[in-house]
Amino acid sequence: MRIFLDTANIDEIREAAKLGVVSGITTNPSLIAKERTTDMKAVIQEIASIIDGPISAEVLSLEPSAMIEEARVVSSWSPNVIVKIPMPESGLQVISSLSREGIRTNLTLCFSLNQALLGTIAGATYVSPFVGRLDDISHDGMQLVSDIVKVFDHFKVSTQVLAASIRHPLHVVIAAKAGAHIATIPYSVLKQMIRHPLTDIGIARFAEDWQNIPKE
Ligand code: G3P
Repeated sequence: MRIFLDTANIDEIREAAKLGVVSGITTNPSLIAKERTTDMKAVIQEIASIIDGPISAEVLSLEPSAMIEEARVVSSWSPNVIVKIPMPESGLQVISSLSREGIRTNLTLCFSLNQALLGTIAGATYVSPFVGRLDDISHDGMQLVSDIVKVFDHFKVSTQVLAASIRHPLHVVIAAKAGAHIATIPYSVLKQMIRHPLTDIGIARFAEDWQNIPKE
């Protein structure tokens, strides 16, 4: 399973990139707004200068022809850009049309197996089940990830399952066990994944034992 970072924060992306484990970035309008800018193009291009992998950027238009026009512009910002399209009828229509043009898409705000199925038939490059938001309403978000993986494997489709709205390290573990191709995670979760108290205790004990070697 590959790890993407779910953020538009440049400092976080720079720090995470140093670790060599992040192979893509996902953003959305809320994450860009959190950085107090409306210049999505500048943010995406700066991210592309740091990360040499897929970078998801979302369209804001709601009407199909405007979405397609916006998607063409967004995809021209960098060869790495994947255009994020939300699910309703307009989104499905837009994904079909963009896939015929060879523009890669990420079906976002996916909350059901039917939506994922329609997304892959329409030609989405990625589908993004939002795990945390399903958990928030007492549905099992990871069960959806597992179901989509099973169906996509069965039909051998090329669309990749991108587990999104990940809230904690256990989500990442379950996404990996379910066979998700990618988990996109906040930087805080990446940092939590790295740490283990027994590792810290072990490092301290090794250092202490080394210091306590009797001097000759
Ligand atoms: O990847 C989607 C993500 O940005 C949404 O996360 O925590 O707002 O549900 P959250």
